[in-house]
Amino acid sequence: MKHTKVKDLLQSNTTLTEVNAKGWVRTFRNNQFIALNDGSTLNNIQCVVDFENTPEETLKRITTGAAISVVGALVESQGAGQKYEIQVSKLEILGDSDAEKFPMQPKKHSLEFLRENAHLRVRTNAFGAIMRVRSVLAFAVHRYFQEKGFVYVNTPIITGADAEGAGEMFQVTSLPLDNLPRTEDGSINYREDFFGKHTNLTVSGQLEGETFAMALGQIYTFGPTFRAENSNTSRHLAEFWMIEPEVAFNDLDDNMDLAEDFIKYVVKYAVENCADDLKFLEGRLADEEKQKPQAERSEMTLLEKLRFVLENDFKRVSYTEAIDILRDSTPNKKKKFSYIIEQWGADLQSEHERFLVEKHFKCPVILYDYPANIKAFYMRLNEDGKTVRAMDILFPGIGEIVGGSQREERYDVLVEKMRALGIDEEELWWYLDTRRFGSAVHSGFGLGFERLVLFVTGMTNIRDVIPFPRTPMNAEF
Ligand code: 4AD
Ligand code: MG
Repeated sequence: MKHTKVKDLLQSNTTLTEVNAKGWVRTFRNNQFIALNDGSTLNNIQCVVDFENTPEETLKRITTGAAISVVGALVESQGAGQKYEIQVSKLEILGDSDAEKFPMQPKKHSLEFLRENAHLRVRTNAFGAIMRVRSVLAFAVHRYFQEKGFVYVNTPIITGADAEGAGEMFQVTSLPLDNLPRTEDGSINYREDFFGKHTNLTVSGQLEGETFAMALGQIYTFGPTFRAENSNTSRHLAEFWMIEPEVAFNDLDDNMDLAEDFIKYVVKYAVENCADDLKFLEGRLADEEKQKPQAERSEMTLLEKLRFVLENDFKRVSYTEAIDILRDSTPNKKKKFSYIIEQWGADLQSEHERFLVEKHFKCPVILYDYPANIKAFYMRLNEDGKTVRAMDILFPGIGEIVGGSQREERYDVLVEKMRALGIDEEELWWYLDTRRFGSAVHSGFGLGFERLVLFVTGMTNIRDVIPFPRTPMNAEF
């Protein structure tokens, strides 16, 4: 007999004489009531065991965490809270679980504790919900771009290019680290390395993506990216997933329109397709908020926040306007910021971004036209000669969720910029070719997928929204 998912059983529109369910025991009460969960939904199905006719030995093995298979009738439940339950006629233990040692007890665990048990934490309601929402969001990303005719491009994970010029990359090598080949001047001889050159894990698929956009028109990437920045914050991962659309002939305004429309689409898709999970996460967030002092509590519930984003235009503000606002702000004057904003040209820290979004505008903000010298080399220089056509989207509770720009399409201006920054033209000859053969205005952006999942699930630590977080000193599983 084929087993049926718990989700489908709970959504059945009739009772059924015989069904089979398989899953993991969440709780076993009174030697009679099993709460069975198989991950297909947040909800458990109650399985009522005929304890008088079940061997004592078997009953003892129905412990929290055990994998079981039950066969029985799907009947209307007498108990509150569920429409159907299974009247068990046959029960099989598929995998025992030592209930005393099983880390996921039927009680509330701290998120810190669960992070140390990342391999089992997905057996909890919260992580089941987060991971289902994450999966639905990933599907929505593909659906959005596919519906619009974008081509999905898999850019390389191993690359010789440093797209962001930040230099915080993980090196990829097959050289023996205890016996490195040297050149005559004593430096490492990368000609002997696997690719015959120095290579890294990619920080962004953008540069490769641009070459495809300049042939296929509209493309997007959705893949893992790696940054060796040693920032142990609740917003940074060393390995995270990024979505990077790139569109030929789009200018910065088109780019902002695309980003806003895209984010609204995927958030709406999750709201419409993850009702149970989001309701649960809303409750979790409300409990967390109650622990905070009154003044710091959010005025909106999770679903209200999501609807707010769907129903309101993102506020578009230039960097220059933002600096004026920040300079005149109370936390700046009272020196409450860790970094005081004194003059135009300052790089914005997440405290400034969050002030703009959460305190000043109270809605998502798109900041654009940043000073050239705090942004990457490939951004298009404005006529003023000092700002570039960059945009960052800032979200409440998150800070920066998107970074993007209109690209410098003028060969001479781009090369001059690269030279000024000491970026090797020869390394990027293939990138520069897009500016030599049929160059055109084009734009794109990168959305940090985990930051999106953070926002939609109302979680506050990025480690809690990726299956196996990679952060400094942490790659256990
Ligand atoms: O702003 P970033 O660095 O932009 C780029 O990489 C561009 N090449 C994108 C493009 O134009 N195609 O990164 C884009 C986004 C950030 O806004 C943030 O959401 C996320 O990626 N991000 C991180 N997420 C988690 N952990 C990190 N260490 C992240 N670094 C960036
Ligand atoms: Mg950025």
